[in-house]
Amino acid sequence: MTRTLITSALPYINGVKHLGNLVGSQLPADLYARYLRGRGNEVLFLCATDEHGTPAELAAAKAGKPVAEYCAEMHEVQADIARRFGLSFDHFGRSSSPQNHKLTQHFAGKLAEAGLIREVSEKQVFSNADGRFLPDRYIEGTCPNCGYDKARGDQCENCTKQLDPTDLIEPRSAISGSTDLEVRETKHLFLRQSALRDDLDKWIDTKTDWPILTVSIAKKWLHDGDGLQDRGITRDLDWGIAVKKGEEDWPGMEGKVFYVWFDAPIEYIACAEEWAEATGNDWERWWRTDKGADDVRYVQFMGKDNVPFHTLGFPATLLGSGEPWKMVDHLKSFNYLNYDGGQFSTSQGRGVFMDQALEILPSDYWRWWLLSHAPESSDSEFTWENFQSSVNKDLADVLGNFVSRITKFCRSKFGETVPEGCEQGAPEAELIANLTTRITAYQGFMDAMEVRKSAQELRAIWVLGNEYLQAAAPWSTFKEDPEKAAMQVRLGLNLIRLYAVLSAPFIPDAAARMLSSMNTLDTGWPDDVASALSALPIGHEFSVPDVLFAKISDEDREDWQARFSGTRS
Ligand code: 2FM
Ligand code: ZN
Repeated sequence: MTRTLITSALPYINGVKHLGNLVGSQLPADLYARYLRGRGNEVLFLCATDEHGTPAELAAAKAGKPVAEYCAEMHEVQADIARRFGLSFDHFGRSSSPQNHKLTQHFAGKLAEAGLIREVSEKQVFSNADGRFLPDRYIEGTCPNCGYDKARGDQCENCTKQLDPTDLIEPRSAISGSTDLEVRETKHLFLRQSALRDDLDKWIDTKTDWPILTVSIAKKWLHDGDGLQDRGITRDLDWGIAVKKGEEDWPGMEGKVFYVWFDAPIEYIACAEEWAEATGNDWERWWRTDKGADDVRYVQFMGKDNVPFHTLGFPATLLGSGEPWKMVDHLKSFNYLNYDGGQFSTSQGRGVFMDQALEILPSDYWRWWLLSHAPESSDSEFTWENFQSSVNKDLADVLGNFVSRITKFCRSKFGETVPEGCEQGAPEAELIANLTTRITAYQGFMDAMEVRKSAQELRAIWVLGNEYLQAAAPWSTFKEDPEKAAMQVRLGLNLIRLYAVLSAPFIPDAAARMLSSMNTLDTGWPDDVASALSALPIGHEFSVPDVLFAKISDEDREDWQARFSGTRS
């Protein structure tokens, strides 16, 4: 039995995530975690809210709340939605946890001891009225290029020109509106990633099974231009983790915090500590190679924009510490999901957000569509037509229909118990052989985290059952040979259990309903198909489930299409 540590990229705290965010990390990570657990492996699946940085401060200001209070509330909101989407985290933590504060300061201390941190003086805009330095996007003014009067210090939203705060005409604070601004010297810490370049390069060379795209992104950052650049790891913000060397103060760094991208990945580890403290488990056996984590396989899931931070940024922190931390073994990244001819957008409220999705339909409908259309080799697009057609065809016509036909037919002819019938014949042997081939392929794709191909294979496994049923036609057989019909039905009922087990990683709620209507707790993986198809013994009671998946009508689709055509306020 292998042990697998799985982390999903941490969702920003600044609001409910959209379906594009979901399919880019948390949902496929959940699929993989559920699959491995289903096959009897030990899994630790972690995620958390990413709570620091300017976006958190801005969102809190917009909501009119102190940032700590905003984050605490939004964490609960995200945790609740994650639970309702069936995301089976062992722990859903917070990057603002005391564990992460301590561990982030610990890493900074170790990096400083190793001579990997240098102090740099920079010029930055200070607001006298606000009593603080302003990050670029907290400064507003008139765009020198197009005259737009609400251009930000990093970019003009109107003409898209990239700006420096000093380019703005009549600059003012976006917090107070004050124009009493001045440029002051301020000190910041830089992580000397350039000094770690060779170590990172060697480490990446050991990753022979990584996708070419991932390696090439990392290599580009390592070698292009002047090579890997040192990275600023501190900011002049109030909200965040205070800059310290371990437990010691850091002279000159008073009032500063670590940059969000420094502390967020450290939360992957701190989250395990949070989990261990909450459950009485040992986190070090998952994270410290001197404490048993050598046996662990560590897999990370993320969107493509996060790849550099996970192949270089975070590994630089871990390697640079000189301590025996577990490093990532496999990294699964995703392209983007688009929405109906454009992009999903949090800032513009464009697309379908997780809470809205669940108001319309149960999570399994979304899970199935999103996973079976995961943006793996290229970007993919959500359209309501495609969603309707996949739900109706795959879930309702193929899987749902199979379950309903078998259970209802059995009830009408043999009652709600598994009937006996005669010995199986050639068609059953052929079905078992086909299922064996397809299940082996399904496992291969799931092991390789090929999400779309896994979904296609699963669907093909459902189709095999329908084809068998269509050819066996127990409703006709019953007239001449009720014993044979009984055998066919017994096989069909057992297939429902088998489908529930195989499908649970994709559609956990429907799978649980299938198992409960088959009145069984047996979730054993079908390592041997023939014996898996006799798991429900003769005489075993079951019940006919309610409709597993309702079809989406054209009317519903049109309603939703109209409702989600604009932007969310
Ligand atoms: O891009 C994002 O949504 C970030 N919040 C991901 C952080 S992942 C990590 F390293 F913590
Ligand atoms: Zn402009």
